[in-house]
Amino acid sequence: MASKVVSVINGRAAQDAPAGTLTSVNPSLLTDVVAEVTLASGATFAAACAAAKQAQRSWEDVPAPVRGQAIAAMGRIVEANKPALARLVTRELGKPYAEALGEVQEIIDTCDFFLGEGRRLYGQTVPSEMPDKQLFTFRVPVGSVAVVTAGNFPVAVPSWYLVPALVAGNTVVWKPAEYAAASAMALFESLQAAGLPEGVLNIVLADGEATFAGLDQALRAGTLDKIGFTGSTAVGARIGELAGRHLQSPCLELGGKNPMVITPSADLELAVEGALFSGFGTAGQRCTSLGTVIVHESVHDEFLARFGAAVSAAAVGDPAQDVVYGPMLDQKFATRFEEYLGWLQPHHKILGSTGMGRVSSANPREGFVGDPDAGLFYHPVIVDGLQAGDALFRQETFGPIVGVMTYARLEKAIDLANAPGYGLSSSIYTNDPREVFQFRRGISAGMVSINNSTSGAEAHLPFGGNGKSGNGSRQSGIWVLDQFTRWQAMNWDYSGHLQKAQMDVAELAADLDFRLST
Ligand code: UN1
Repeated sequence: MASKVVSVINGRAAQDAPAGTLTSVNPSLLTDVVAEVTLASGATFAAACAAAKQAQRSWEDVPAPVRGQAIAAMGRIVEANKPALARLVTRELGKPYAEALGEVQEIIDTCDFFLGEGRRLYGQTVPSEMPDKQLFTFRVPVGSVAVVTAGNFPVAVPSWYLVPALVAGNTVVWKPAEYAAASAMALFESLQAAGLPEGVLNIVLADGEATFAGLDQALRAGTLDKIGFTGSTAVGARIGELAGRHLQSPCLELGGKNPMVITPSADLELAVEGALFSGFGTAGQRCTSLGTVIVHESVHDEFLARFGAAVSAAAVGDPAQDVVYGPMLDQKFATRFEEYLGWLQPHHKILGSTGMGRVSSANPREGFVGDPDAGLFYHPVIVDGLQAGDALFRQETFGPIVGVMTYARLEKAIDLANAPGYGLSSSIYTNDPREVFQFRRGISAGMVSINNSTSGAEAHLPFGGNGKSGNGSRQSGIWVLDQFTRWQAMNWDYSGHLQKAQMDVAELAADLDFRLST
């Protein structure tokens, strides 16, 4: 049965559909409509920002430990609904159920981390250079925040923004991906059930252009203080430009072309396992998905043979069953993936499946799990012989495709790993500590895995990238607090007279010519 999803602003459903409607469809069973979504206009988006701005002061006035209690309740509510939410994520996005459970766990972990932040949000007391004066720092909320998220992690990644933003005293307008609307609404309702006052958390369903227009309008009106965005590099650049005009720095979490370097000392079996998980898990539609394997020439043939065998044998299909990956998230990703397949060149050697492109009974994959004609399933592709000039090497290719190339010296491997200009995640398989540190120093990525895959970040380490992967902002753990709070410095002079900094400072008579006589 399809649910009806409408924007909720100030606790009220925005029923009118000035921007039309769309359906969110189960990508593993295209006849199954998961949600009918009422789309909001840019003006409605801006109205939501105004509502959030209006509600912000009184939310900030709620003592932080009490806000922390709301976060604690969110964690328990999501925990109690874990299987239901995971089932919905599997149905709406085609994420294998085990992975969907992991995704919901990531929300719980995030709440568990931040519930205590309500009792910390530490500031500092700092000594003054003058007597009878004291210095302090306070973390203050940024204000009203718009959070725009993708649908590949339809509930976990939004929680990375919403939870710290709320505990820090901000109010939020959340714009989830339209094709993940039902999952988003389920998370919204679960968080709302923690007792948030009206207007503190709002959800708006809108397409990209309406969202952009709404952001622009709200920024001009002064009702929006911060944007958080997870999505493509191209859209992130537009958002950065818009925010910059208003002297704001958004929190941007963008694409990746995440490299995995395999050195001669690597445990190849482990590397194959990591490459399979990070290359093909979620059908390669994570921003941390493996892009290119850069393998030492001395172990290339053995690695490729093992990797090809592992991918050929991997269970692909019905995400409700035990599979490595299910369908593409939505038709738009399937269409785009077919474009990426058009980038294959005669010098590429293809491995990994019994066909290419969309899996169907006419284009079967051996060992496919379920009905291949029911959904947006694609053959996995390993592209050996990738070259530095290839589009497949330079661009993010959101989908089940992994490139392989060789190197002779580690410096060269690091150059190749950095060459596409992204910088989100990276990985090296080696048993040589010198190579570990050479790689860590040389790689431009925000996240570095040693003998582990490029994906699977834990929810309390800084998450984010550099270059085309982001503007240096970091999510998760204590680090995300710098996105949702600003430092306010206070000085309090209780001496009863004006003491001038740098000028009215006592000096001790040091003998700088002092030398030991020995
Ligand atoms: C993303 O792809 O947007 O590291 C986030 C991982 C997950 C999060 C990925 N924990 O794979």
